[in-house]
Amino acid sequence: MRHSIVAGNWKMHKTVSETHAFLDDLIEKLPTDKEVEVIIAPPFTSLFSAVHHLEHTNIVVAAQNMHQAEGGAFTGEISAQMLKGVGVETVIIGHSERRHYFHETDAILADKVNTALNHNMRVIYCIGEELKDRQNKQYLNVIFNQLKDGLFHLKKEAWTNIVIAYEPVWAIGTGETASPEQVQEMHAFIRREIEREYGNETAINTSILYGGSVKPSNAEELFSQEDVDGGLIGGAALQAEDFTAIIEAI
Ligand code: G3P
Repeated sequence: MRHSIVAGNWKMHKTVSETHAFLDDLIEKLPTDKEVEVIIAPPFTSLFSAVHHLEHTNIVVAAQNMHQAEGGAFTGEISAQMLKGVGVETVIIGHSERRHYFHETDAILADKVNTALNHNMRVIYCIGEELKDRQNKQYLNVIFNQLKDGLFHLKKEAWTNIVIAYEPVWAIGTGETASPEQVQEMHAFIRREIEREYGNETAINTSILYGGSVKPSNAEELFSQEDVDGGLIGGAALQAEDFTAIIEAI
């Protein structure tokens, strides 16, 4: 079902005590009159207590990553079953920082998606081109290949648990937000490719989020684009005032 989502990807920020202080502030400041799903993705160490802190709210807790194996000798990794065990049912997969720093290929990410879906988890799947791809006008090919190699093996029914996050790498953490025109072009392209592969119903029901230097000052114009269904927020998600201002903009 396509609906509006504003998700905060905290990356490697906030201890457990900082998480709880933030969540108290977020609950207090959260707009209550908006038709939007609010998701926060804290580090693994805060997942369990964040789920309990938010149990009487509609705020969803997501993981930032997971391993593709069901379990085993993978030091430092976390499995889907472990996430489900602490009440987490949504997971971000394929963030550009995982692709870059941890060498997660489309094939590895497809395996992660399969495992998450096998545990009936919802996946926020990140795609995005690098600056060189945009400069050499290869960005549409790059995005198509990331969709094809990461997700287009899925059966149509699986797409009810897929959310796409388009995050141009050159806009992440840089303050260089993609223009509303660039964002709409890419979201419309992504939706067209999903339609081509799976048909109109799947395409119009898939939420496509934008990520990359979303701020309170630019959120409204970005979210007003026809094929933008919300945002995946990094830096601005770490302050309750900014995060709630972005939610207000949906
Ligand atoms: O996953 C969201 C993140 O990559 C965007 O970061 O700081 O540019 O909002 P930021």
